[in-house]
Amino acid sequence: MKFGYFDDLNREYVITRPDTPLPWINYLGCESYFGIISNTAGGYSFYRDARLRRLTRYRYNSVPLDCGGRYVYLRDDESKEFWSPSWQPTRHELEDYTCRHGMGYSVVGSSFRGIEAHTRYFVPLNESLEIWQLTVTNRRTTRATVSAFGSIEFCLWDAQDDSNNFQRNFSIGEVEIEDGVIYHKTEYRERRDHFAFFACSRSGAGFDTQREAFLGHNRGWDKPATVEAGQLTNSVAHGWSPIGAHQVRLDLAPGETQQIVFVLGYHENPNDQKFDPPGSQTINKKSVKPVIARYLDSKAADVAFDRLREYWNSVLGIFQVDTPDIHTNRMVNIWNAYQCMATFNMSRSASFFESGVGRGLGFRDSNQDLLGFVHMAPARARERILDLAATQLASGGAYHQYQPLTKRGNNDIGGGFNDDPHWLIVGVSAFLKETGDWSILDEPVPNDNEPGSEVPLYDHLLRSFRYTLERLGPHRLPLIGRADWNDCLNLNCFSSTPGQSFQTTTSKDGKVAESVFIAGLFVHAGRELAAIASHRGRSCEAAACLDEVAKMEQAVLQHGWDGDWFLRAYDDFGDKVGSRECKEGKIFIESNGFCVLAGIGLEDGKAARALAATREHLATPHGLVLLQPAYSKYYLNLGEISSYPPGYKENASIFCHVNPWVMISETRLGNGDEAHDYYTRINPSAREEISDVHRCEPYVYAQMIAGRDAPTFGEAKNSWLTGTAAWNYFAITQWILGVRTTFDGLQIAPVIPASWPGFTARRNFRGVVYEISIERKGVGNRIALTVDGNPIEGNIVSPPTDNRKQVLIKGILG
Ligand code: BGC
Ligand code: NOJ
Repeated sequence: MKFGYFDDLNREYVITRPDTPLPWINYLGCESYFGIISNTAGGYSFYRDARLRRLTRYRYNSVPLDCGGRYVYLRDDESKEFWSPSWQPTRHELEDYTCRHGMGYSVVGSSFRGIEAHTRYFVPLNESLEIWQLTVTNRRTTRATVSAFGSIEFCLWDAQDDSNNFQRNFSIGEVEIEDGVIYHKTEYRERRDHFAFFACSRSGAGFDTQREAFLGHNRGWDKPATVEAGQLTNSVAHGWSPIGAHQVRLDLAPGETQQIVFVLGYHENPNDQKFDPPGSQTINKKSVKPVIARYLDSKAADVAFDRLREYWNSVLGIFQVDTPDIHTNRMVNIWNAYQCMATFNMSRSASFFESGVGRGLGFRDSNQDLLGFVHMAPARARERILDLAATQLASGGAYHQYQPLTKRGNNDIGGGFNDDPHWLIVGVSAFLKETGDWSILDEPVPNDNEPGSEVPLYDHLLRSFRYTLERLGPHRLPLIGRADWNDCLNLNCFSSTPGQSFQTTTSKDGKVAESVFIAGLFVHAGRELAAIASHRGRSCEAAACLDEVAKMEQAVLQHGWDGDWFLRAYDDFGDKVGSRECKEGKIFIESNGFCVLAGIGLEDGKAARALAATREHLATPHGLVLLQPAYSKYYLNLGEISSYPPGYKENASIFCHVNPWVMISETRLGNGDEAHDYYTRINPSAREEISDVHRCEPYVYAQMIAGRDAPTFGEAKNSWLTGTAAWNYFAITQWILGVRTTFDGLQIAPVIPASWPGFTARRNFRGVVYEISIERKGVGNRIALTVDGNPIEGNIVSPPTDNRKQVLIKGILG
């Protein structure tokens, strides 16, 4: 069952009924001002930090689920009926409801008794504000008098206080109203140098700024008393709950269309120019007024919207493919790339599954996210890498997270996740391969942001590598620390206290439990580092690195092989995890996926056996589950992984982040059919037809799909902010389609299904557009390439030595 359809030409998903199984959301904003918007206009906005600079309120985990948003109401001033064109919050019956989620914008609307209304929500490039363009058309044969209301609830205070210190909030709310613009200036009198505003192109018919005045006593957003009565009250909030609401009266001839523009924004003033006149408590509005005036003009708003479309055309235009599979095309060309940008911007902080107040940017997560977006925003990738590396410690260890506003490591969670440092190598290597910008390695980067401690970024990479060598366990495999990629495999935690954090509790000295996954990651990252070192002319360092890699490979083959697959770990007792000797959790995806990805066991057949076992034990029609058999009870020595009921999250769900490791591994063995089959099983577009089972958005990946041990097998959860986005993008583009960035040029090495006659792609790589066409002439993966008509040796196309900006690559596969 479907709830809408893909409009690929417009790069939109069109939702045709408001009652999607969960709110299906989209992101607004590209750089510093962001919003989340659901298909019924729920959600919230913030400037850079969803906790400290949140503009509007949202009630998580509430009933109904989608509560708080950018709400528009319409009222027929003759019949006195009122409704919301976005369905929420009135949930009035509507005709022709549609929500078009597009690239950085959403258009939500419907018709009701001949009044058609749609609101287009978007954030203009380079601005810290959002525009709502409400278009109302009278489809009746008679005149219509309609009141339109736009409303939001302000929240420019520490969003966490909303749940634990709201007694303070009840007394600090302040607003100003000037020229019909509502300014929210809570805490501006003290340390904030910023405020929010909510403006309307046709103010005058009324406003409200106090929630209770707008909604009426004991009422909710579904039935505001003022909307019902058809008149706002011009309330001025002092304390309690400041809101912004504007009323506009429309008189529409039959067939007539009118547009109202609402602008919601964030603005900063220099600290010494906060007030006007100086010494007063009145906001200095000199610099904000022209910005507001500009965007209240429909034409200026249209121009800003067109620029946003152009921006996305150019970003997505960097890589476009045409394959025989529509789901591949749609995800690569549009939605997967788009999701990669969202994960880059948000890390794991603000979605409909993450509150935005809890987590900073993950070290591991952000580095992996690079794999998916580095080609779309190389300059921002560079900045992100340097920020991340600046939180690294002298030991090579890393804070698990950093705060986006301060860019400092987060002390509350600390470090000790022993895989973390290696992801920096993986991220930097992806950056170098994409950009060829080797200068980044010479950038001076401090430890833990300590001025004076700067060393070249390159040295940080060496430290990352050494970090593991200084932390080897009894089998010369890497000690796991608090956890590795799998945050829930807590082998040193031993927590028996309810509510204690599995992430930060460590009850063992951590000198025994080892991770075969980190070993695989070490081998992979070590090879990347060696290649980087030799490129820099550091051949001794490269050789030393490869030497350690070889030793680790041996340790894995000797102590990390279980007979038919790779072991997952050794626990604190030195007992095996992920072994046939175990009662539960006999086989895990991570070590098998990553060891083969790293090339371990390719020669002696172990890789092939590991993948065969993975297929046999972990593959389901909805994707590969993380482990089998699921843990049926809590194991003190394993931690959070066994806290989840079987089939959910790390306990044997289809954890979509790690499925691509197996896809890539399959391509390393030349198995295009298998790789693409796994790709399709979790591809959200390919699952659109079962939206009633999948339940999350069919246009983006979710972190997990319930595994076969769960009663809800096939149900997705935690959509949007997940490493799944980057890894699937990386797997399909670089390994299955095989258009792969390397230090020396663009490699063309497709491992595609046998049934595909070929595909074409266009890739903008380091300023040159490569037009690629692949034709299958046989069943194998061998490729013969011609570049601008000339056959080349091997499969790496070096950048043109002349000034050509366009290169034609033809590949014969077979
Ligand atoms: C989740 C993990 C997550 C971790 C850290 C756990 O509860 O299951 O997926 O990585 O929390 O936030
Ligand atoms: C989500 C976390 O953000 C990520 O860092 C982790 O690797 C996975 N969960 C697996 O636990």
